[in-house]
Amino acid sequence: MCGIVGYIGDKQAFPILIKGLKRLEYRGYDSAGIAIIGEETNTFKIKGKVSDLENFVVNEDTSGNIGMGHTRWATHGEPNNDNAHPHTSTHGKFIVIHNGIIENYSTLKESLLEKGYSFKSETDTEVLANLIEYFYLKGGVTAEEAVRFALQKVSGAYALVVLSHDEDDKLIAARKGSPLVIGIGDHEYYVASDATPIVEHTKSVIYLNDFDIAILKKNELSLKTIKNIKITPKIQKIDLEISSIEKGGFDHFMLKEIFEQPETVLNTIRGRVSAETKTIQHGGILSVLPQIVNAKRLIIIACGTSWHAGLVGEYLFEEFARVPVEVEYASEFRYRNPVLYKDDVVIAISQSGETADTLAGIRLAQDAGALVIGICNVVGSSIARETTAGIYTYAGPEIGVASTKAFTSQVTALTSLSLMIAKEKNTIEQSLYENLISELVEIPSKIELILQQNEKFRAIAAMYKDAENFLYLGRGFFFPVALEGALKLKEISYIHAEGYPAAEMKHGPIALIDKKMPVVVIAAKDKSYDKIVSNIQEVKARKGIVIAVVTQGDTVIRKMADHVLEIPKSHEALAAILAVIPLQLLSYHIAVMRDCNIDQPRNLAKSVTVE
Ligand code: F6R
Repeated sequence: MCGIVGYIGDKQAFPILIKGLKRLEYRGYDSAGIAIIGEETNTFKIKGKVSDLENFVVNEDTSGNIGMGHTRWATHGEPNNDNAHPHTSTHGKFIVIHNGIIENYSTLKESLLEKGYSFKSETDTEVLANLIEYFYLKGGVTAEEAVRFALQKVSGAYALVVLSHDEDDKLIAARKGSPLVIGIGDHEYYVASDATPIVEHTKSVIYLNDFDIAILKKNELSLKTIKNIKITPKIQKIDLEISSIEKGGFDHFMLKEIFEQPETVLNTIRGRVSAETKTIQHGGILSVLPQIVNAKRLIIIACGTSWHAGLVGEYLFEEFARVPVEVEYASEFRYRNPVLYKDDVVIAISQSGETADTLAGIRLAQDAGALVIGICNVVGSSIARETTAGIYTYAGPEIGVASTKAFTSQVTALTSLSLMIAKEKNTIEQSLYENLISELVEIPSKIELILQQNEKFRAIAAMYKDAENFLYLGRGFFFPVALEGALKLKEISYIHAEGYPAAEMKHGPIALIDKKMPVVVIAAKDKSYDKIVSNIQEVKARKGIVIAVVTQGDTVIRKMADHVLEIPKSHEALAAILAVIPLQLLSYHIAVMRDCNIDQPRNLAKSVTVE
């Protein structure tokens, strides 16, 4: 949430900052701003998108070789020009951009008001700018020291970049809880919330750790802790292609990412699942394999779509590896004083690897002595770094705010992991194990077949684009798919949608059914097929509209349902990966037809780094 970018070097900062902000816009898009040091220091900020900022400054002086930019997802204070970043301190000595939340901002603000500081915005960030200035003006300290002193007084999360009026040859960047990456160019440095604005300039990066402070000058980088202890920078190479962060001819990132799924699922299993040798090897967890195999319980923690993937994981691990599993919303888990044992293994699932609640859940579990492994998409992310071992999903950058390819890759990783553990524990028959491996490697080509039906999904979307409510039903492996289908629809089309276990319908939601409400039933062939057929009949008996996801060739449901969306035949444990794809496309087309902003839905942002 909130995107940060900074540049210092010989080039003009403005085009780099604007392009960088556009790349980061998925993190927040309610206002944008820049500050650039040229002949003098100029700050421009405005409510709206980065393109609004670009238009706003068209006749302004934006020249200069040092600068920083911000795209906001509002926490403190509504989206407006005043609350947009950068924020300048009362006496103009410091300019700050920030991602995160300063939790003790109101106490700090009161004390700064008493000291004569004034505030133009409602943000916590302006408090930070004034606090830094307060320490600076007390005298005898450098800008860097003032930043360090201020940060020692704040609680909460921050990634920030600071410009100093008096020391205008540097950028000061610091992180705690929110991500920040430094890019190392040729006599130049970049700083950003993630590598996407950096990758076209350099592949050499440093990921800041919590409590790190980086001082960036044109020809010099120094890295310290908040307590002024020098750190040797760990330079890493990023493996990110520009094409992977561009739309590549698709109208939206979300559509591109849906269509990438044959490739991204393949990337998740590549080199890990072998149909030839009938083996599964997740190298990233080998060091802790005995602990996972001997775990008395698995606890999966995640948020949103990743939590839905975790629910599929519960069914997989219980079915094949015969280990009890609990799936927890990280935000509930972390605040609940959960009972944890040393032989529990916690699996944290996250696309971004930066979700604040998931990170906090990891730390809590580690403090209790549990082993925590991660299933993460973003390489080098905080969750990837803080977990003891893990699996990268390798789905590539997901830029559309609504998660699609991350989900199918997460479920693929969970499927292969559950089979690997089952094999180690001897809880799965060899023939079933081998059969599932063969089926798993066929999933990418089956996804391809589903994507070929896109036009059909669009036609169904056109019929129901004006519906006010949707219900999604599924059983077993398809219950989490129902939840995910409903989430996709509500977040991008703003249609109210609920996901339910199909059998629960008669305990309440059945009262909602009438001839106006589409009910999406995930009814591919599985062991509760007959039961879901009965559920469809119950909906039809009440004149509900049924859109059913069925296994190709199903003739029974075809006769009852108003529409069928076909997926290729596969083992029920793998069909969750397939069944979600028609639902992603249905939501996508409905949202397009309702003229919604697909990649930047209202109020949302990718990578929820606030709690
Ligand atoms: C929904 C969506 C969110 C994320 C959630 C967790 O489409 O994208 O619900 O799944 O914010 O994010 P990660 O997986 O990055 O931890």
